Amino acid sequence: MSDLNSNKPSLELHPGGSLSGVVKVPGDKSISHRALLFGAIAQGVTIIDGLLPAEDPISTAKCLRSMGVKISSIQTGKDVEIQGVGLDGLKEPEDVLDCGNSGTTMRLMLGLLAGKEGRHFVLTGDKSLRQRPMQRVGGPLKLMGAKVEGRSGGDFAPLAITGQKLHGAVVGTPVASAQVKSALLLAALTAEGITTVIEPARSRDHSERMLKAFGANLEVGGEIGRHIKVRPGRELKGTKVVVPGDISSAAFWLIAGSLVPGSEIIIENVGLNPTRTGILEVMQNMEAQFEVLNAREVAGEPVGDLRVTQAPLKAFTINEEIIPRLVDEIPILSVAACFCDGVSKISGASELRVKETDRLSVMARQLKAMGAEIQEHEDGLTIHGGKPLKGTVLDSETDHRVAMSLGIASLLAEGSSSLLQSEAAAVSYPEFWDDLDRLHNS
Ligand code: S3P
Repeated sequence: MSDLNSNKPSLELHPGGSLSGVVKVPGDKSISHRALLFGAIAQGVTIIDGLLPAEDPISTAKCLRSMGVKISSIQTGKDVEIQGVGLDGLKEPEDVLDCGNSGTTMRLMLGLLAGKEGRHFVLTGDKSLRQRPMQRVGGPLKLMGAKVEGRSGGDFAPLAITGQKLHGAVVGTPVASAQVKSALLLAALTAEGITTVIEPARSRDHSERMLKAFGANLEVGGEIGRHIKVRPGRELKGTKVVVPGDISSAAFWLIAGSLVPGSEIIIENVGLNPTRTGILEVMQNMEAQFEVLNAREVAGEPVGDLRVTQAPLKAFTINEEIIPRLVDEIPILSVAACFCDGVSKISGASELRVKETDRLSVMARQLKAMGAEIQEHEDGLTIHGGKPLKGTVLDSETDHRVAMSLGIASLLAEGSSSLLQSEAAAVSYPEFWDDLDRLHNS
């Protein structure tokens, strides 16, 4: 979301009742960004079915439009058409590129633009984004010859990019981050020579799948698919992309359906890429009652419908190994932990501190305000289940996933809550509060 507007009224949330019905969550945010970016630098037309019509992908589209890419209007239920300009066709923009609240936009743009010789670009974003670390992308890109400058030695936006002729390299990423990996893969497409990107652990692989579908010369190998080799020189070709529903948005209904007494929810058309399904692994360990229906593959991504019913939940432990597969689901899992039987432990999650907010600290603060028993650690949380939560004044602190997580927590509290900055949800799920209203039988 854009910079804080504290004059907005708070949202009143009332507990009680159950959740039931069918919901179709909006398109996957990660896949939506990639479809726009790859379509822009492909030759010919790309059609995107199911693009997420939310603030973050709209930031990506706006940046691309100001570099001369024609993208049709982004509206719910309408295909988006992109007239690709080819690998070297992006024009130098007349003004700064505003990435809004979107880390994916800024980090992937860095990789996309670093190799655009003779052109100058400045990337900025809202207050939250200007505080997020960018050296994790700029550093590895420099090994390929990129010139990226910014505040604090290049770590913080606004960032200035002077396009260079890049050279291929073997580049290790400092963190298991799909944003960093994808930036390097984009840079590799126009570098001279082969680039191999090596990740410390496997992150979501939507870029690899989609680049192949666009015709890039890319090989995935090495131990558990952590080495990705790109041979430049091949143009990308416009294609049709079908975006599945976002499992990170489905997560709110999965946990709400598991927790709120008497609930039964069917979530249709959810992306089930195994690099994203950590939440389902944890739900299995919690003994949550859910099933995958109608499992299928759509345009290179596994998809299914999910049916969830309320059941007693056991406490869970999650560590570093699983974090990349559920990194965006920790806020809603910390809500779940408050209602599990026993003590849940989350560790190896220090990346959460550099998301849209410091999500470990924000979730601990907001849930404590409701009466939860939580200890915050440098890299995680310990949450004691079974302490009743009380309705109170809550604040998303501008973070979309915090807003939606607190929305679900307040359904389970004793007494009503007021949520400040609930509009943050529009970053990834603009219809969230309407869907909640529709599913909630009070
Ligand atoms: C994303 C990767 C993840 C995730 C973010 C989207 C992506 O970030 O948290 O919401 O689309 O590549 P990191 O790459 O920083 O782990």
